[in-house]
Amino acid sequence: MGTPTHRLNDGNLIPQLGLGTYLLTGQAGRDAIAQAIRLGYRLIDTAFNYENEGVVGAAIRQAGLPREELFVTSKLPGRHHRHDLAVKSVEESLARLGLDYLDLHLIHWPNPPLGLYVEAWQALVECRERGLVRSIGVCNFLPEHLDRIIAATGVAPAVNQIQRHPYLPQDDQLAANASRGVLVEAWSPLYRGGVLADVPAVAAVAASHGKTPAQAVLRWHIQSGVVPIPKSADPRRQAENLAVFDFELTPEDMSALGSFPDPAKTVVAESPEVHVEL
Ligand SMILES: NC(=O)c1ccc[n+]([C@@H]2O[C@H](COP(=O)([O-])OP(=O)(O)OC[C@H]3O[C@@H](n4cnc5c(N)ncnc54)[C@H](OP(=O)(O)O)[C@@H]3O)[C@@H](O)[C@H]2O)c1
Repeated sequence: MGTPTHRLNDGNLIPQLGLGTYLLTGQAGRDAIAQAIRLGYRLIDTAFNYENEGVVGAAIRQAGLPREELFVTSKLPGRHHRHDLAVKSVEESLARLGLDYLDLHLIHWPNPPLGLYVEAWQALVECRERGLVRSIGVCNFLPEHLDRIIAATGVAPAVNQIQRHPYLPQDDQLAANASRGVLVEAWSPLYRGGVLADVPAVAAVAASHGKTPAQAVLRWHIQSGVVPIPKSADPRRQAENLAVFDFELTPEDMSALGSFPDPAKTVVAESPEVHVEL
């Protein structure tokens, strides 16, 4: 059975779980991504700034699947927000990937101090009209950023990719995106790996279903209506992360995973209001 899908606000379908590719570079990265596709991953998440669009494209060719079976996402870097640079950036991403179209292209960060994200959004709307990109969206946008681009263009993003994991459940952001018809994707859905396995609440929920802590957390994202994009270079952990569609968390499990404090109090979301990433 393939990965279940969500329907986006533009009518396109998106898989309910994908592969993150940050740090999957070079030949090892290409092999890891091709392996993931062979295991059944259909959504692949890259970015101009990961400097791996080339190996993502090579992995896609290596895996040998028909293009229409894959959902490929990339992202516009902050230094390309100006309209003409943004259009060329999308064309450059496609050339690096060796693809004719992207399934989804996202503004990587709003970079409010630069004041150019509305211009970038207008460029992505045009790229969609030209058929370079099937769906367009954003990352790390707060509700006020969403409202500005919607007011300027009449086009709501299909997706907003934000940091989300049990230390940062982001309930208010989920509600704000849902009320605007925007699907949320979770970046760092496993809190960059490992740490959550040591939390008794996660271990208990996982054990009660005969699943691993990572699987319990990924299932929590899915049942929250959020698309997680866990990254793994390891075939065993890639398979583990994909095997989350054959069990169901209870309402008690859901609230247990969504409401425990960060014991070290070290987890803070990078504030999209001030963060600048070029
Ligand atoms: N839009 C944005 O601003 C933004 C920001 C950050 C990330 N992202 C995207 O989101 C993706 C995912 O986030 P992330 O890479 O930061 O973190 P993540 O997916 O939460 O965690 C990845 C780490 O967890 C380990 N891991 C994976 N599966 C595991 C499992 N089942 N058990 C134990 N450890 C496991 C991986 O190690 P191994 O590889 O050794 O398995 C890796 O070190 C990125 O790759 C990128 O595509 C987007």
